Order: sequence, then structure tokens, then C-alpha cells
Amino acid sequence: MFIDKFKLDGKTALITGGAKGIGFSIAHALGEAGAKIVLADREDKNGGVEELKKANYDVTFFEVDLLDRSAPQKIIDQTLEKHDRVDILVNNAGVAQHGDTHEFDDSMLDKIMDINVDTVFRMCRSAIPPMKKKGEGVILNIGSMSGLASNIPQPQVAYNASKAAVHMMTKSLASDYASQNIRVNAIAPGYVKTDITNLPKKYEHWYPTWNKQTPMNRMAEPHEIASAALFLCSPASSYVTGEVLVVDGGYTTR
Ligand SMILES: NC(=O)c1ccc[n+]([C@@H]2O[C@H](COP(=O)([O-])OP(=O)(O)OC[C@H]3O[C@@H](n4cnc5c(N)ncnc54)[C@H](O)[C@@H]3O)[C@@H](O)[C@H]2O)c1
Repeated sequence: MFIDKFKLDGKTALITGGAKGIGFSIAHALGEAGAKIVLADREDKNGGVEELKKANYDVTFFEVDLLDRSAPQKIIDQTLEKHDRVDILVNNAGVAQHGDTHEFDDSMLDKIMDINVDTVFRMCRSAIPPMKKKGEGVILNIGSMSGLASNIPQPQVAYNASKAAVHMMTKSLASDYASQNIRVNAIAPGYVKTDITNLPKKYEHWYPTWNKQTPMNRMAEPHEIASAALFLCSPASSYVTGEVLVVDGGYTTR
């Protein structure tokens, strides 16, 4: 009975930035649970889409730059055209950049806020009407522990602020749409082994600090975030909304 609560047969899940990293792992988890997968990413250099297809999931790939303001509505429209439904939206696409605030340039600030915050808003804005029409829906936003604590040693004020905004957007949306049977949650991952955390040589000395600051003394694998995502996207979490689920190996306990 309980295992059945994690099943997503007949559901369609749209994942932004799902061609690699955490989003790719989430696509795997939701696909294995039975969902049809729609990925919206600016590129698929690692062959993630083919790998998901080889696993026999129903996968659609939209190659799209989410910096384009009209992209979110287009992706939702195309998903509806193909599957007639958007049951699950995972706002995963994101970028990170570190740098001292007094030297941080506008173009990077704009990019971080655009992808990490504004695009999440636009995707939700476009996904909610069809969810309302169906009478149910699930939104999962990928925030970060950086929205809850100031990581060291890297200075990354803009990124931290963008993720705090994602957490608050999650809570506000959850409150506004609970009565329409739309659940909205977030995951706040700690350090995860993906391209974002693949540091150039000159910053490799940060890794020991990251591990030391993490009680579990290691970084996460993407699949460890994906299993939390499966919980939040499935009926297993039917009474959970407005939650920011921290998956950080204990980082924010200190
Ligand atoms: N890796 C970590 O340690 C960590 C920790 C906390 C939160 N996060 C968050 O997890 C999410 C996924 O990151 P990741 O670690 O898997 O990194 P990643 O770089 O492997 O994946 C990010 C994905 O987003 C896509 N993307 C970025 N900008 C885009 C755009 N303009 N249009 C379309 N797609 C775009 C990329 O192509 C890529 O597939 C991000 O929101 C990130 O902030 C990551």
C-alpha cells in the first residue's frame, strides 16, 4: 500500500534543466515511478535525453533557453499539446556564480536572478492554469541550503538571495493554491556533485572546507536529491505543502 503512493503512472512531469545534474536524476526517479518526462534545457551535451530513453521512459526534450521570457509559456503549451496535461512541474534549472559583492557585475546578477527566480515565477504562472483546470497539480522548486545559511568560503550573495527568494515563492504559492489542490514544495540541497560544484583547480582547496562544514563529511550524489524529489512529487507527500525540505548532510545544523 505504501509503495503504491510513490507511483506516478499516467502523470506528466515537466523538469527544467533536466538534461544533466540534479534535474537528470530527478527525471530518472520520476520516469521510474511511471511518469511521462518532459525536459526543458538549453542543451544536452552529455546525452542525458538518450540515456533516459534507453531506460524506456517516455521522454520529450525541448531545447530552449529559459532566459527567453516567452519560453515558459511556450514549453507549457507544447507539453499540453503533446500530453494534454502538466501534473508535475519541477523548477530545477539554475546557475551559480561566486564573487565579492563590491566587484560583482550586472550581467551576472541579472542572469542569476532571471534563471533562479524570475523563470521559476514564470514557469509557475504558466503551469498553474492547466493544473487548476485538472483540479490538481504538484510544483517542486529546487532551492538551496544557500537560501538558509551563508556558505563559506565562497562569497555568493546573489546566489544565496536568489535561493531564499525561491523558498519564499514556494511558501506563498503553497498558501495561495492549496485550496485548488495544487501542492508546492521546495528542496534545499547541500553540496551535490554536479557541474556547478566541479571547481577549477584554483578553487579546489574549497572542498575540504565544504566537507568539514558538513556533519556527514561528504557531498551528495544527485540521486540522493532525486529520491526526496520523488517523495515530494508523488502522493506519498499528499499532506505536505509549503515545505522546504533540507537535504544537506546536516550542513544547516551548525
Ligand atoms: N549542485 C549543488 O551543489 C546544488 C546545491 C544546491 C542547489 N542546487 C541547485 O540545483 C539545481 C540544478 O543544478 P545542478 O547542480 O544540477 O547543476 P547543473 O549545472 O548540472 O544543471 C543545471 C541545469 O540547468 C540548465 N540551465 C541553466 N541555465 C539554463 C537556461 N538559461 N535555459 C535552460 N536551461 C538552463 C543547464 O543546462 C543544466 O542542465 C540548480 O537550481 C542549482 O542552483 C545545486
